[in-house]
Amino acid sequence: MPDAARLLERLELNHPIVLAPMANASTPSLVAAVCNEGGLGSLGAARLAPDAITTAIREVRAKTNRPFAVNLFAPLPVVVDGAKIETARRLLEPYYREVGLDEVPAPPAKAPYGFDDQLAAVLDEKPPVLSFTFNKLPADAMRRVRASGAMIIGTATNTAEARALEDAGVDAIVAQGGEAGGHRGTFIGSFEDSLIGLVALVPAIARAVRVPVISAGGIMDGRGVRAALALGAAAAQIGTAFLGCPENSAVNPVYRATVLDTEDKATTVARVYTGRYARMVRNRYVTEMSAHEASLPVYPIMGALTMPMIQAAIAQGRGDLVQMLVGQGVARTTNESAGAIMRRIVTELG
Ligand SMILES: Cc1cc2nc3c(=O)[nH]c(=O)nc-3n(C[C@H](O)[C@H](O)[C@H](O)COP(=O)(O)O)c2cc1C
Repeated sequence: MPDAARLLERLELNHPIVLAPMANASTPSLVAAVCNEGGLGSLGAARLAPDAITTAIREVRAKTNRPFAVNLFAPLPVVVDGAKIETARRLLEPYYREVGLDEVPAPPAKAPYGFDDQLAAVLDEKPPVLSFTFNKLPADAMRRVRASGAMIIGTATNTAEARALEDAGVDAIVAQGGEAGGHRGTFIGSFEDSLIGLVALVPAIARAVRVPVISAGGIMDGRGVRAALALGAAAAQIGTAFLGCPENSAVNPVYRATVLDTEDKATTVARVYTGRYARMVRNRYVTEMSAHEASLPVYPIMGALTMPMIQAAIAQGRGDLVQMLVGQGVARTTNESAGAIMRRIVTELG
């Protein structure tokens, strides 16, 4: 059976469309709406505490009987560099003052929960699919997910990563093109070398591995899905096109207004908010802080330093400071409901 048919059958999908997991930028209602239209909704759970993960999964289940995915960030080694932390705190001071905050806090000595706690919460709820990005899963985590019966989907931005994920035992691979909004999944080589467009990346990964490939990045309509399938993907994973949906109350007002603005706008890949490279709208903060990128601490430390500033900027509607993760197709994001977007794409697919 060809890859596409195998993937669709296993996930009971009517259409080869996956809602991208979007941590902090999607809701259980959005996930369920995509599932109910015959796509695969993915719950972006990476920034949720374990008890919030449980609640969110139950909310998805209350709204749909269809299969869905839960997504986590695979753990990364964290290098604590005191000098970089102090540099970042100094550089952030003027932005803190702009939004009326005093001191840039020191990063917490210990995170309130870790990946293992998140994974335990996910697996207790037995979701049909677990997807992840940023790295391979630790071998023990792979065993636990496998034992739960969930299908496992990893994320690759180059062929070396795709082969490594296949060797580790994933069931499908998201090929994340350079067009994609959000954090880069790169874990082998530099992020610059892996900003590969989907036209080049999907056929290369499809040739390198035997598992089905899911194409992600800049896909906004039926033409994009058809192109992904023609390139050798079994399905298309779509994020930015769903950022403006009314079901997506996780997107704050200034972010929402920006994604619904139909002017073409510059996106760039920077690590100035979280410490990890991500594609986002280039606003004033991104432009100014990018000059200091080499001096900033890594993920998630930088994220802890910027969080209070971002929250205050959101409350004040400051688009020049708020983090807005988007893909290169953002100018075509609409305020249609998720159901309407799914039906439109399916009609366009023919
Ligand atoms: C706001 C936002 C948040 C994202 N968060 C995640 C995430 O939590 N986990 C993940 O695997 N990918 C995440 N991504 C990346 C998507 O999985 C996918 O690669 C991307 O949305 C595809 O490109 P597009 O946004 O142009 O459709 C995110 C993307 C966006 C736009």
